[in-house]
Amino acid sequence: MKKTLVLKVNPQKPETEKVRVAARFIKEGGLVAFPTETVYGLGADALNPQAVLALFEAKKRPLDNPPIVHVENINDVHRLAKHVPPKAESLMKKFWPGPLTLVFKRSNLVPDVTVAGLDTIAIRMPQHNVALALIRESSRPIAAPSANLAGRPSPTSAKHVIDDLNGRVDAILDGGPTRIGVESTVLDLSVNPPLVLRPGGTPFEALKMALGDVKLHPFVVAEKELSLGEARSPGMKHRHYAPNGKVVLVEGSVLAVVGKIKGLVDSYRLKGCKVGVLATDETMAYYKADVVKSLGSRFNLAVIAQNLFRLLREFDAESVEVIVAEGVPAEGLGLAVMNRLRKASGYNIVKVE
Ligand code: TXA
Ligand code: MG
Repeated sequence: MKKTLVLKVNPQKPETEKVRVAARFIKEGGLVAFPTETVYGLGADALNPQAVLALFEAKKRPLDNPPIVHVENINDVHRLAKHVPPKAESLMKKFWPGPLTLVFKRSNLVPDVTVAGLDTIAIRMPQHNVALALIRESSRPIAAPSANLAGRPSPTSAKHVIDDLNGRVDAILDGGPTRIGVESTVLDLSVNPPLVLRPGGTPFEALKMALGDVKLHPFVVAEKELSLGEARSPGMKHRHYAPNGKVVLVEGSVLAVVGKIKGLVDSYRLKGCKVGVLATDETMAYYKADVVKSLGSRFNLAVIAQNLFRLLREFDAESVEVIVAEGVPAEGLGLAVMNRLRKASGYNIVKVE
């Protein structure tokens, strides 16, 4: 057990002294959790193999799933990537800093453990002053997966990080709740057309506008388990975003979904289960279950994305055994929400008309 130092920071104008304390840990090979615009990350010096190994251990993350490397200037991309294609240059101009991760061929500077032995590296520039200040003050790129224990929903507040990692990391910069709530979009530019490996904070529609031709990897829209041979991103192989409760996802028109969920709730309760419903503002009054929580309005997918991981954690804290979740439109940020819900359900999806 380590003593984990929690430092409250101003998210807009982080106090230099506090950032310096955190940066010292990074420079010495330690682990620091910090807010980004998407979710909290758990950072280590990306160029220090021991530090990155400790990062995997703290999260109990399998060694074959590499973290995203975070930078605060474009120069570092040129150091970490072997080659930066023109498409990447224009995407970086348009979307950075922001929730878009780009996959490049990696340079020799990058330790093997940082990229799990792959010949590619995933890089992003986060849009958060605390994250940017920490990277700058550490004067090195920071490898940072989401700051949760492997298999738990990503943390959207410092409290979630403490719940998972207290005593396992050196420090946590607490900059309040994160704005986007789902992780960055991961885009592979080493193939033509470019391929979205994970939908996230940058909507697919925005990438289509910028690139013309871009595709979603079959895993991204999967409604059932696909064979692992098709995985292009190591993260696709691992069970993700799983709350302790069993998740059942119901998709279809709103009226049919509400009717189906009512039936499912009754049948699980008859079996003696503690049942929760993950509803929306428009529908929550229709349900009678042990716990009913609303993600927000169906007409505001950004708010739904913001609330998703927090609510999944709340169901766990209340020991809900079965979570019956409403599907939301898979457009804009809704695509990332549905991807996380489908995975969390282990593809236990009920379709209704
Ligand atoms: O928003 C985010 O991206 C957050 C914050 C902290 O920046 N980070 C995050 O990291 O979600 P993590 O490690 O939880 O997810 C990284 C994803 C995984 O799905 C991983 O497999 C994929 O990126 N990835 C990493 N390196 C890759 C590579 N070289 N090729 C393909 N996918 C890669
Ligand atoms: Mg993660």
